[in-house]
Amino acid sequence: MQFKAREVKQIKAERLDKLLANLGYGARKDVRAWINEGIVSVDGSMTTSPAQKVTADQVLLEGKALDHPFGLTIIYHKPAGSVCSRKEGGRLIYDDFPARWLDRKPPLSSVGRLDKDTAGLLILTDDGQLNHRITSPKQHISKTYLATLAEPLSGKEKNIFASGKLLLEGEEKACLPAELQMLDNQQVSLILHEGRYHQVRRMFAAVGNHVTALCRTHIGALSLQQTGLAAGEYTTCSPQALMALICAKTPE
Ligand code: URA
Repeated sequence: MQFKAREVKQIKAERLDKLLANLGYGARKDVRAWINEGIVSVDGSMTTSPAQKVTADQVLLEGKALDHPFGLTIIYHKPAGSVCSRKEGGRLIYDDFPARWLDRKPPLSSVGRLDKDTAGLLILTDDGQLNHRITSPKQHISKTYLATLAEPLSGKEKNIFASGKLLLEGEEKACLPAELQMLDNQQVSLILHEGRYHQVRRMFAAVGNHVTALCRTHIGALSLQQTGLAAGEYTTCSPQALMALICAKTPE
């Protein structure tokens, strides 16, 4: 899949050592040492001044342009078995990305989470505004899941999920209406308009079933299939290109 280059928002000049440290290249003291060694150039000339105010597009490190200097947004195919939290043990989604990306400031965060056993489409970004746009219910960006069930459907689930009256265990507010499409008697596609903790698994638990496999196939109009990503693979794109994909009009 091809993405347009990121349109740069406001580029602020900042100290060279801070800029490199925030892009994850190393601690400020290491970065200063490299600048002293003469491996950093600004506008084509070697510099030894860590305090020099620069924008990232002026800088080369060992002759190379900086890595995603104006923000980082990732479309990722999360494999089942990896966790989205940075704090948990076991395999983390972050293990699939270059180590330098994890030392960036602002930090990379997932846009919402998928639970450990769920696979599928996940966005990560260091852009707080973008993160909010995709998760905020006001933006009406639906999420679609493919669920495989332990028991055959009873036939009542579609109406129950669409009713806006389904209460999940331990909650007082009913789920927003959700659209269920039966693919066969133990496989469904489910479109949600909100994101509660383990929502799909809990919705099926509420109707006496159990989800045995779960995959997020769409965020808005963006489908996992169109990305061509295999489990564990990712691609980067600009926030603008991402929103165009998510908000694309789909034929009726
Ligand atoms: N619903 C779930 O049960 N798990 C997820 O990861 C996402 C939605």
